[in-house]
Amino acid sequence: MFSSIKIAEFDSPQVVVIAKFADSPVEPFIKKFEDAELISAASARTESSGELGNIVEAHPGREGGPVRIMVVGLGKKDKFKPADVRTAMAAVARRLGVTKDTRVLLNITGALDEVKANAEFAGRCAGEAFGLLGWDNKQFKGKKAKDEDKRVGLELAADKKSFRTGLDYGLKLAASTNFARTLSETPPNIATPQFMADQAKKLAKEFGLSCTVMDENVLDKEGMVGHVNVGKASENKPCMIRLAYTPASIKKGKTKPAVLIGKTVTYDTGGLSLKVNNGMVGMKRDKDGGCAVLAAMHAIASVIKPNRPVVAILCSAENSISDEAYRPDDILAFRNGVTVEITNTDAEGRLVLADGLIWACEKEDPAYIVDLATLTGGVVVALGSVFCGMFCEDDALRAKIQAAADSSVERVWRLPMHDDYRDIVKSPVADILNSNPNRKAHPVQGAAFLSYFVKPEVPWCHLDIAGVHESDADKGMFVKGPTGWGTRLLADLLAED
Ligand code: BES
Ligand code: MN
Ligand code: ZN
Repeated sequence: MFSSIKIAEFDSPQVVVIAKFADSPVEPFIKKFEDAELISAASARTESSGELGNIVEAHPGREGGPVRIMVVGLGKKDKFKPADVRTAMAAVARRLGVTKDTRVLLNITGALDEVKANAEFAGRCAGEAFGLLGWDNKQFKGKKAKDEDKRVGLELAADKKSFRTGLDYGLKLAASTNFARTLSETPPNIATPQFMADQAKKLAKEFGLSCTVMDENVLDKEGMVGHVNVGKASENKPCMIRLAYTPASIKKGKTKPAVLIGKTVTYDTGGLSLKVNNGMVGMKRDKDGGCAVLAAMHAIASVIKPNRPVVAILCSAENSISDEAYRPDDILAFRNGVTVEITNTDAEGRLVLADGLIWACEKEDPAYIVDLATLTGGVVVALGSVFCGMFCEDDALRAKIQAAADSSVERVWRLPMHDDYRDIVKSPVADILNSNPNRKAHPVQGAAFLSYFVKPEVPWCHLDIAGVHESDADKGMFVKGPTGWGTRLLADLLAED
């Protein structure tokens, strides 16, 4: 929507944005404005409902004055949550996308002060809204469309220093999230496992992270049978990517790392258990867990800079189809000794994740593990695109994830783990199977399967993001397409850790 966004200071804004509650007058905090009367009149008009995201405009038309003043609604005072600033500012950003004004002064702390909202957090929310709406999915359009591109660069100013600090932080979080979205959007003929590895290497170089990539040969030698088998049928070979952030302030080895694992299946045809009825369309986004983890590392290395080391593991393969494909009835012996009967080659994500989880537990001595995966269609049926499915039996880790979900509004809903579910994935011929054909509780089966690869003493959280990684409509802070879900949640998790 915008070609760039930066924070600036200027004397002559083209647009001034003022916020108002539905049940409270604007007059007390606009008294000192030159255009106070006009603003008053605009907010008294019937279409000025003050509802969250409602916008009315005043057009001063005086020499040197702003072209327009937008009065944006924050809803009713007693219903207001600080995170609502995202919705209100998303409405403003969308409007600016149409008006194409460039110099915008955000003057919304007057209303926010009435409810004692934290101005820095409000600024962060505004930054996220503008930054996320700045992104679009036009990077693969052809020359003509690019030449005709009418996007303008946006300059944002704000009335309060703390709001501006938050604004800067929010814009940075959005920029990291947009990195995940651009990767998600990249089609599977370009975004291969090797491409994802190259992206990780580039990130490592830019921010001084360490990056190692296990290629096909190493995967084979190390017994990473999930990657090897899922990736076998594709000419785009699988890899496991490890990216590590080490804080400057802490002696190596003293503080255990947080380990973030992402399912990075660059395309999911289902394999020999081929997806049918157009179920394959959109499966370029089956790498979105990995994209979010990579983008979170971007945020961690560039802005969060936590005191805890962070290791990212991207389990990457293309689930394709050929005479070399792994098959239903195959039995795989994993590195931790667990054997798996393949019943469905479309349950491939858990196989590559199993390698990642085993590796993390064996090699990284994790403080905790969080994995993100577009694992099951079942979680979309259960929770839609409102909540992500969360599986976490560790109370302390769950509380941290919940807190990060609250501040980022990347919502998580706890789903059950129970030994009875671990029984559903038992196999008559191997230890476990990768999907029970009875089709019961699929998201939970996925989590139960993964639990066989995590050491019981390691706190672990599995997030099934299949419902939330993309938005099916232009709504709120997102356009139809990838959301980069998890980037901001993981960033907040590490910021508070
Ligand atoms: N990548 C899919 C899950 C998925 C479905 C993600 C829809 C996003 C949108 C996953 O690999 C898959 O195919 N899952 C199967 C599991 C089944 C075979 C056990 C599913 O959900 O049907
Ligand atoms: Mn699949
Ligand atoms: Zn998949």
